[in-house]
Amino acid sequence: MSSKSCNTAILISGSGTNLQSFIDHVASDKLEISLAIVFANRANAYGLTRARDAGIATACIEHGDFDDRLSFDRAVAKMLDKAVPRLLLLAGYMRILSPWFVNHYAGRILNIHPALLPAFPGLDTHRRVLDADVTWHGSTVHFVTDELDAGPRILQGRLAVEPGESADELATRVQSIEHQIYPQAANWFANGRLVYRDGAAWLDGKRLDEPIVMDFN
Ligand code: GAR
Repeated sequence: MSSKSCNTAILISGSGTNLQSFIDHVASDKLEISLAIVFANRANAYGLTRARDAGIATACIEHGDFDDRLSFDRAVAKMLDKAVPRLLLLAGYMRILSPWFVNHYAGRILNIHPALLPAFPGLDTHRRVLDADVTWHGSTVHFVTDELDAGPRILQGRLAVEPGESADELATRVQSIEHQIYPQAANWFANGRLVYRDGAAWLDGKRLDEPIVMDFN
């Protein structure tokens, strides 16, 4: 790992397959990222075990112990800031962030969402995609803003929905795309190619009015 690596915090709530993908990419020296801390808002999040097994510092604060969103987010930030992260990656972090938290890390939080935003924000995307009978599905990496799942889009991985495919099968295929596009986009940020400016995502000095789309068929 280079000493110039981008100090990064990963926030999770569950299994952490995206976290694992970062761990694997970093271990094989493919990213200019160093994983400073993995944070979970649930003590039983399996991703914490993945992080510990990889020798990464972990922290957990349960949101149920706080009266409101802001006081929880302030406690999380106080703890994260000890690791001095330049980049925050939400990887299955199932918490709505307070405007205070988003502003505290303005332009430095990425999220991965399992749909081709702006289509299908929110939860249960794979089931909703099947119910809507659409042709294309996938995942989106975007900057986080105050508005849920609506920040500037950076990179999408796209696949064609197969006839008769179940929501679980679709989820598995989408996750395997996520494990490729999220490290790619995060590395663009880490090496300075990707920035958030004037409310937009910029890659290599060009404003991304539309995300970059990669096909995975
Ligand atoms: C991922 O598919 C991610 O896109 C999704 O949660 C999953 C976490 O999986 N995120 C959201 O739905 C956020 N709204 P993982 O814990 O195995 O990485």
